[in-house]
Amino acid sequence: MSKRREIIDLRSDTVTKPSAAMRRVIGEAEVGDDVYGEDPVVNHLQERVADLLGKEAALFVPSGCMANQIAIKIHTQPGDEVLVGQGAHNWLFESGAAPVISGVQVSRLPGDGRFDAAAVREAFKADNHHVPPTSMVSVENTHNMGGGVVWQADAVRHVIAAARELGLAVHLDGARLWNAAVKTGRAERDLAAGFDTVAVCLSKGLGAPVGSLIAGSRDLMHRAHRVRKMLGGQMRQIGILAAAGLYAIEHNRNRLSQDHDNAEFLAREVDRIPGLSVDLSRVQTNIVMADMVEVSGGGAVGDARQLQARARERGLLFNALSAARIRLMTHLDVDRSDCARAIDILGALLTETADSSTRASEG
Ligand SMILES: Cc1ncc(COP(=O)(O)O)c(C=O)c1O
Repeated sequence: MSKRREIIDLRSDTVTKPSAAMRRVIGEAEVGDDVYGEDPVVNHLQERVADLLGKEAALFVPSGCMANQIAIKIHTQPGDEVLVGQGAHNWLFESGAAPVISGVQVSRLPGDGRFDAAAVREAFKADNHHVPPTSMVSVENTHNMGGGVVWQADAVRHVIAAARELGLAVHLDGARLWNAAVKTGRAERDLAAGFDTVAVCLSKGLGAPVGSLIAGSRDLMHRAHRVRKMLGGQMRQIGILAAAGLYAIEHNRNRLSQDHDNAEFLAREVDRIPGLSVDLSRVQTNIVMADMVEVSGGGAVGDARQLQARARERGLLFNALSAARIRLMTHLDVDRSDCARAIDILGALLTETADSSTRASEG
């Protein structure tokens, strides 16, 4: 089948498939039983990621969700409060795990997913019998539901300083920290500095089929190891997965700038389509949020879920996040020509929507 007829999948950067080269290293990976700590490739990956993040140790886990939930479990006691940003993954998309696994209340701070030190201070609850004592703050960088926005270095520093003053643990959900590093030109270890724990994913922009890591001090990772076991996250001959992760780290990090460039192109062109609007200032990495808006001169605002369904029929996949917003994500398996085709499909669909609403208003 020619490329022209292939599906363009912009639903998420998790949809990538392992390349032939990645499959080769998977096939050739040495393995051992990781529950005995004997898988050499896992050990190597953990050391490599700990080093990249400037932490003493790292632990391989099956998913970003597990990394985040382990962090909450090791930083809190049941009845505590955890502060997160609006739309935080560990609040919205982890199946309500934090109250179940750790018995904590998760509270969202005002902002666009990012927040400031004043918000942390304002929300902080000291330990008295009326309220859930705050024990942890979680920062998501880049911020998925915020549209892939990157935290300003100063804001992170001030949030960490406030957390320290208040005696709170600080966790970084860095599922896409790699994108933040490429965008800012700063090393991952700089972006991770000051956090007690950091979660990173190998299976998003980096293109590995599975795997995340949590990193922190040796003591915290000792406790993380126990929680991973409690959650059933122990695995055996996973050198085959770790090999894919190492390959992804060494080969697919720097190329993330291409995804960012493609997202910028996509955003600019989608914003030109009457009926769709993109806040270009928020397109900083590989995520584009487009809103359905009224076309000038009136006309019905389309429905994002209908648009999603109609685009699917033409071979373009993306997610509708609400009735008025769609999310498009660039990644390893889409190139500039795929983005151009996506723009054409969206343009045609929006024109048809405008035509049919004009006919309806005339009829
Ligand atoms: C910001 C963020 N954190 C954590 C996760 C969870 O990762 P996983 O799907 O590996 O559990 C995701 C997944 O998309 C994410 O976007």
